[in-house]
This record gives sequence, structure tokens and C-alpha cells, in this order.
Amino acid sequence: MQPGDYIEANRKMWNETAGVHAQFNLSRLQERVKSPDFSTFDEVEKRIFANIDLRDKAVIQLGCNNGRELISVKKAGAGRCVGIDISDNFIAQARQLASSGQVDMDFIRSSVYDLAHDFDGQFDLVYISIGFLGWLPDLNALFGIASRLLKDDGQIFIYEMHPILNMFNAEKGLVIDTSYFARESGGQVEPFVEEASPDYLDPSQLVNAVSYWFPHKLSDVITACLEHHLSLTHFQEYAHDISEVYAQFEHFEKKLPLCYSLVARKTT
Ligand SMILES: C[S@@+](CC[C@H](N)C(=O)[O-])C[C@H]1O[C@@H](n2cnc3c(N)ncnc32)[C@H](O)[C@@H]1O
Repeated sequence: MQPGDYIEANRKMWNETAGVHAQFNLSRLQERVKSPDFSTFDEVEKRIFANIDLRDKAVIQLGCNNGRELISVKKAGAGRCVGIDISDNFIAQARQLASSGQVDMDFIRSSVYDLAHDFDGQFDLVYISIGFLGWLPDLNALFGIASRLLKDDGQIFIYEMHPILNMFNAEKGLVIDTSYFARESGGQVEPFVEEASPDYLDPSQLVNAVSYWFPHKLSDVITACLEHHLSLTHFQEYAHDISEVYAQFEHFEKKLPLCYSLVARKTT
């Protein structure tokens, strides 16, 4: 399969997932986003966004899903906000939520790899959060695009699941299932293939589509930053779960790193 085939399969799976999530929580979210204080930020995000100082900043979120995180960014004082997602149905939900929340934002349906050059150099901040990087076959190309989108001196903030979780199958618990070091073929990480499986927010619902998840290492993320002139200014690992899938791992006495935050600044 070519990278474009994986991305197209993932688009179909995310469109299926959007229907399940709409049933699960869209009407509740439509009510919640009406509040001027609406926020999805946890303590880590609050601290990092305060440090970045969102006021009037131009922000682009890659993999914005239904837009709830970017709406929080907007309500925290950001200026222009643009959300990109490959799923037609999640972008439709994001527009609905922005309208309910009475915030002026742009949501664009596109694969990050197809983003137009019109956006180059326009953003103070690229924001990536929870469960995005694994859908992307080519991490190095992604960070090239992120760097391109930033103004000189702009920053990227990533709050992601720790790649060590790729070694475990949440259903089997703390049993090493796969090597941390993924197999590669032709210079590309070989993906995990997921057949129809229960939804991560509403496990009572089956998402009936095949998807492809790329188990990139932490060093792949850091190397890709450095290759694209993104100099790390913050990096931290945490023992709390942000994935919704590995929550039970928080309770082990001997802690694993379950997520991390990274901030890097574009240098010229
Ligand atoms: C688990 S969500 C993470 C986003 C957000 N943090 C959240 O929790 O809702 C992953 C999102 O990435 C999007 N996505 C996957 N591949 C993509 C691609 N190539 N370009 C843009 N978006 C993509 C999916 O449609 C999905 O909405």
C-alpha cells in the first residue's frame, strides 16, 4: 500500500467514528461550548498555554477532530484559529460547535500532507494533541509542514500519548505485546492494522472500518523537530493517561510514562 492508501482508509474510519461520537456527546458539547469559559484543558495544557500566552496568537491545530480543543484555545484568548482534519464528518461537527459557541474560526477538511502553501508562515503556534501523530505515515514530512506553517520564532506545542504505549495492547494489560522499535520497510514505519473495533469513547459501539496506526518512537519526534529547525524549549513526561484507552495503567504502583508535552521554537 502507498501512504495515500493508508490515509484514505483512515479518513473512512474517522468518518465512521464521527457518527458514533455525534450520538455519544455532540448535543452535550453543543451546550457546553456556549459558555465563555468553555475549556478542555487539563493542568498541563493550562500551564503550557499560559506560558506561551495565547492572547491574539494565530493558532493552527493539526488533526482538530470536532474542534473542541481549538474552541478552548480561541476562548482562552487566541486570535485567528484554523483547524485541519481529514474527516469530513468531524469537520462538519467542528463547524457546528464553533457556531454554537459563537466563535469565528476556520475548519478545513484536508489531510495535513495536502495543506496549501497559502498558509505558510502565518501562525504563531502549531498545536497537536492526543492521538494524532500515530495516524501519520511520514513524521518527518509532517514536521516539515509544521515548520513551514510557522512564522519565524513561532512555536509548536505537542501534548501526546507516550509512544511506549505502542508496546502494549490495552486489553491485555501490562504485557509486552510488541517491540518498541517498529519494523520498517522502504524507510517507512510499518503500521499496526486495526480491523473493525469498539469505539474509544463509546466501547458499546463498533466502528466498522479498517485503520492504520504508525508506531513512531519518541526519538523520531525529536529528530524530526531538529531536522526542521524546531528547537526544543520544553519536554516533560507524565504518569497520567490522556488517551482514554490506557487509563488502567495509571494505577500501577510502578509507573510508566503515559504521555508527554513538548514545545519547540522555530529558529532560522
Ligand atoms: C484521536 S483524534 C485526535 C485529535 C484530538 N486531539 C482529539 O482528541 O479529538 C485524531 C484526528 O486526526 C485526524 N487525522 C488522521 N489522519 C489525518 C491526516 N492525514 N490529516 C489530517 N487529520 C488527520 C482524524 O480525522 C482525527 O480527527
